[in-house]
Amino acid sequence: MCGIIGYAGCRPAVPVVIEGLHRLEYRGYDSAGVAFAQNKYLRVIRAKGKLSALEEKLATEQITTATCAMGHTRWATHGVPAERNAHPHSSNDGALAIVHNGIIENFQELKTELTAKGHVFHSETDTEVLVNLIAECRKREPDLLYAFAAALRLAHGAYAVCLMERGAPDTFYAARMSAPLIFGIGAGENFAASDIPAFLPYTRKVIFLDDGDIVQASAKNYRILRLENLQPAAHEPQKILWDMQAAQKNGYRHFMLKEIFEQPRVIADAMAGRVSPQGDAVLLPELDDLPVPARLHIVACGTSWHAALWGRHLLESWAHIPVQTEIASEFRYRDNLPLGKGDMALVISQSGETADTLAALRMAKKQGAAAIGLCNVIGSSIAREASTVLYTQAGPEISVASTKAMCSQMLMLALMALYWQAKQDRPTDAARRKGWLDILASLPAMLEEALPAMHETARRLSRKYAQARNFFYLGRGHCFALALEGALKLKELSYIHAEGYAAGEMKHGPIALIDPAFPTFAVALDDPLFPKTKSNIEEVQARQGKVIALTNEGTGLSADDVWTVPHLPPPLAGFMVLPALQLFSYEMADYLGKDVDQPRNLAKSVTVE
Ligand code: AGP
Repeated sequence: MCGIIGYAGCRPAVPVVIEGLHRLEYRGYDSAGVAFAQNKYLRVIRAKGKLSALEEKLATEQITTATCAMGHTRWATHGVPAERNAHPHSSNDGALAIVHNGIIENFQELKTELTAKGHVFHSETDTEVLVNLIAECRKREPDLLYAFAAALRLAHGAYAVCLMERGAPDTFYAARMSAPLIFGIGAGENFAASDIPAFLPYTRKVIFLDDGDIVQASAKNYRILRLENLQPAAHEPQKILWDMQAAQKNGYRHFMLKEIFEQPRVIADAMAGRVSPQGDAVLLPELDDLPVPARLHIVACGTSWHAALWGRHLLESWAHIPVQTEIASEFRYRDNLPLGKGDMALVISQSGETADTLAALRMAKKQGAAAIGLCNVIGSSIAREASTVLYTQAGPEISVASTKAMCSQMLMLALMALYWQAKQDRPTDAARRKGWLDILASLPAMLEEALPAMHETARRLSRKYAQARNFFYLGRGHCFALALEGALKLKELSYIHAEGYAAGEMKHGPIALIDPAFPTFAVALDDPLFPKTKSNIEEVQARQGKVIALTNEGTGLSADDVWTVPHLPPPLAGFMVLPALQLFSYEMADYLGKDVDQPRNLAKSVTVE
């Protein structure tokens, strides 16, 4: 959503903060700003647009060697992207400054109360209300930490904040509630940030703050207290093992391309330690204490929901578990959630911070259902609130468009299906299970070999269809979920309108849209549904619609462009289809000159509703 960083230490603080903001820019880039103490004042410098605009402004400033500072890169929620709405926000008297990620839900009523007390507001943000609320509490509290805590108790909603005060130029305060914030412990320096890469070059020693933690930090000291009673919070520092290289481009043109080509390793990493040495059993100790779900409600958003839709096929056919897939923003507002006895929720989220998915998890737990988390980010909110959590182990996904995360989610869903299959111990399944596991184990090498040719075809076809303003993506069965994902990728990367549709649905209306300027990308693999999908393709062609058909060798399909990928038994064929769809969208966006890693209007983690 937004990225925040606070620093107190021994180095010039502003360059450290700016460097950290660059590593957080994937979280939003509508505006940016920094705050630091200078000559007994609390300087705030902000700029609309990407971080480079702020850097240009800073270049004209005499920046002191302040050793404590904080910064913010914004994805707008309240108030348009503009300098007046950029963070940090200051209290009316300039004594306090704050950076904030999240939403204060009762900010309007607080603003009314504060206005009546004489506070003046210069922005439309909820954040400016929060910093003036702290200032108001400060009038009654000689200790800023207590004033900060008092204000946070009055503010309802989600926040990860850093706060500085003019009178304490070497100290920053921080707090989190339903928004990510990690504390970094260095040698003579301390950090708080929305994500680990922001300070990883300086320290690997971190504390994953909990909701309700409040922090006071200077260069050599810190204390983490509980908001509810200001008693010390119990935390064990953890060591981060992955390195900055893992979060860099490694020579690829974009993070997205790197992450697409990482998928063979991602599959291998997701399987690591989760298959028995004999290769015939799935080891998921995270699920050992749970029974096999009577029914599984898989809840997610966006690409993660497409993974859920794809996983349903395996869970139903391999593990005989009835599955409902739910879009989290719909699920969380349903009356009488259909969670029956023995039902479980499975919430899928790469970031582990998606607000709607987190809310869905909380609702399921409130109804007494076990809520399994499937996340990529260790220590994320969903990971920590889930009844149990499985990590996809995909490494940091920096590109806003999710690619390797979906691949890893699919792999985990396949392993979960085989795990629960084994728990039901049907005799016919054992032999088949070994067969499926052998195929999963062969995927990394198969994909490694297939990706270069796939990329070449994607590049060629993207140029051929680059003038299209509309696209259909069609698929049946497990390929329907992939068609939806292909359409989402094209939409969010190249800004071309694309509709993902069940191929069988075209004749019920959408086919009216088909004409030579409205091409169709049809996924028609060599599987039992192929004849049906082939008919749907012919219906499109009969209306002069152009068709790119993604298929396997030997299907004999005819289309304007036939793209063959290596055959895999359905539904594992999705592991070959997914990268092809990703590469087509990537090449289209790059060819059209779009900002591939940071598409307009998007953010990597949507931590608000
Ligand atoms: C993916 O390409 C999208 N940017 C978006 O749909 C994303 O998948 C969705 O916001 C869910 O994110 P999560 O997996 O972190 O919960």
